[in-house]
Amino acid sequence: MNSKQVVLITGSSTGFGRLFTDTLARKGHTVFATMRDPGGRNAKNASEIRALAEKDSLPIHVLELDVTDDASVERAVDAVVAKAGRIDVAINNAGYYLSGLEEAVTTEQAQRLMDTNFLGPVRVNRAVLPHMRGQRSGVLMHISSAAGRIIAPSMGFYCASKFALEALAEAYSYELAAQGIESVIVEPGQYETPVFGNTVKAADEARTSTYGAVKELPAKINAALSSTAGNAQDVADVVLRIIETPAGEKQLRYFVSPQDFGLNEINALCKQVQTGALEAFGLTEDTKFRKGKAVGSV
Ligand SMILES: NC(=O)c1ccc[n+]([C@@H]2O[C@H](COP(=O)([O-])OP(=O)(O)OC[C@H]3O[C@@H](n4cnc5c(N)ncnc54)[C@H](OP(=O)(O)O)[C@@H]3O)[C@@H](O)[C@H]2O)c1
Repeated sequence: MNSKQVVLITGSSTGFGRLFTDTLARKGHTVFATMRDPGGRNAKNASEIRALAEKDSLPIHVLELDVTDDASVERAVDAVVAKAGRIDVAINNAGYYLSGLEEAVTTEQAQRLMDTNFLGPVRVNRAVLPHMRGQRSGVLMHISSAAGRIIAPSMGFYCASKFALEALAEAYSYELAAQGIESVIVEPGQYETPVFGNTVKAADEARTSTYGAVKELPAKINAALSSTAGNAQDVADVVLRIIETPAGEKQLRYFVSPQDFGLNEINALCKQVQTGALEAFGLTEDTKFRKGKAVGSV
């Protein structure tokens, strides 16, 4: 694989996605910064990114991609391959936070959250994998969360969406390793981005109102998260380091956080248990990373 990579990022209008775009492009990686509606709701964000790319001669292309829309995902991936001839890294970053007592979350809100945070990466991965398989290389990156490993009250649906993402990403890592494709998970703690301002609140207030003092929990947790949030550039630096780690040497999980919630211990124990389970099922060899030969090479 060329050391300068072709990277597609979802949810690049603001926050982590925007920072990843800037950080990776400044190191010479070609970035396809995708977002919803760059000609409308994100017109200002799109034009700021384009202006920056032009001013600093950065290899950034802005494309439309809504992760809840199959056709939009396929169009964007086709456009990347048509322009760059390949796709090395897909960063599944688009997502949002839903906060509130679980009983007050409507089924429609739950479906919408899963459609973005979980099915979004499903759509992106399905669109990029045929190209990565053709190259016999590639990286699927999943921006999960510390909430993909630990659970807090009033975060149940958000945690569920990130736990689901973690399960999918881990299964992908086992299935794709033999084809030279890596699947990695980034687990950020709380960081300063627009995520808290974009939080969706559980809609059924009548249910919430029956919970007495417990109904204050979402506000308590959100205040604790935003008052301890770290510098989001730390996460972008980790993403850059992962992308620049040689194929076959990446970890499955990377926890990065301003607070140590003990996730490294959970991840170390899970790795040990998973390794044992794969061994017990006789799958160790099948799930080993093998550097692939590019199609057409000898
Ligand atoms: N900040 C944190 O503390 C933290 C911690 C752990 C994990 N995370 C995760 O990090 C990721 C990025 O969040 P952030 O903190 O950078 O917050 P953010 O600034 O609110 O970014 C979220 C991004 O997702 C995009 N998005 C939402 N729905 C989309 C859709 N259907 N299609 C395409 N893009 C969509 C948003 O685009 P629009 O502009 O179109 O709305 C926005 O660009 C999320 O997955 C979040 O769960 C954040």
